[in-house]
Amino acid sequence: MAKIIAGISSSHVPAIGAAIDNKQTEEPYWKRVFSGFEKSKQWMAAAKPDVIIAIYNDHASAFSVELIPTFAIGCAAEFPPADEGWGPRPVPVVQGHPELASHIATSCILDGFDLTIVNRMEVDHGLTVPLNLVFGSPTEWPCPVIPIAVNVVQYPPPTGQRCYDLGKAIRRAIASFPADLRVVVFGTGGMSHQISGPRAGLINQKFDKAFLDNLTKNPKALARMPHIEYMREAGAEGIEMVMWLVMRGALEDKVKEVYRFYTVPASNTAVGHIILENGVKAPARKPARKAAPKKARKATTRKATTRAARKAA
Ligand SMILES: [Fe+2]
Repeated sequence: MAKIIAGISSSHVPAIGAAIDNKQTEEPYWKRVFSGFEKSKQWMAAAKPDVIIAIYNDHASAFSVELIPTFAIGCAAEFPPADEGWGPRPVPVVQGHPELASHIATSCILDGFDLTIVNRMEVDHGLTVPLNLVFGSPTEWPCPVIPIAVNVVQYPPPTGQRCYDLGKAIRRAIASFPADLRVVVFGTGGMSHQISGPRAGLINQKFDKAFLDNLTKNPKALARMPHIEYMREAGAEGIEMVMWLVMRGALEDKVKEVYRFYTVPASNTAVGHIILENGVKAPARKPARKAAPKKARKATTRKATTRAARKAA
């Protein structure tokens, strides 16, 4: 059976991709950002997943503003990098996993999540930047990737609760796939940022850190957070963080946080990153104290009363 071994969330700032493509990763400004992902690369090299499910958002590259599915799954055999205005990024073509993707689509749709099935799609920085951050710049990506795109570019995006529940549906889908595959789920986007308007450049470190804390320990409360709070606290584009809840929903209730990185700024956003592993056993409950049998309790009470009466006498 396939199983999800871990979840990874990471910002997908386009300027990070540009820094990689323009070979600026050793410059002090960018070194601060990339050095935070060195441990993640080691973790990934040891984990060696068979498949990645990448929850990301398309930035009007594959879908344009004429057609925006709320949730869409890529079932193609491959996904070339999109031209986002400067030509396609010089990154490998993403290889898909049509068999598992079709299984997830079937399982989720029959489970109440009407995913849009996409059989031809290009992928933009929302998906390729997180791959770079954990794999570096190889000539081929080390494993197939199933893209799941979430609308966070046009109102209304799905609620955090809906995203969290989609993660649970993905979890059920993976658990029912017969091949022995080790799967890692990515949640991308965020953290706090706003790219236009009077609040452009907004970063809220307090909110971001609380979000990371809750993502590990209290995701159910996080899932209840309304859109307006993302907008108010994390800026207009901070809504991308609902995608992290898909990743979290796909994991078990109790997870082990094995790594976290946060730095400000990268371009005009806060960069956040977390690795959560499945497989944490819930602590054993302490055995309840046995209540004394009724008769014994009565006897004890009688003895105590007799002792008290003797004392008083
Ligand atoms: Fe984005």
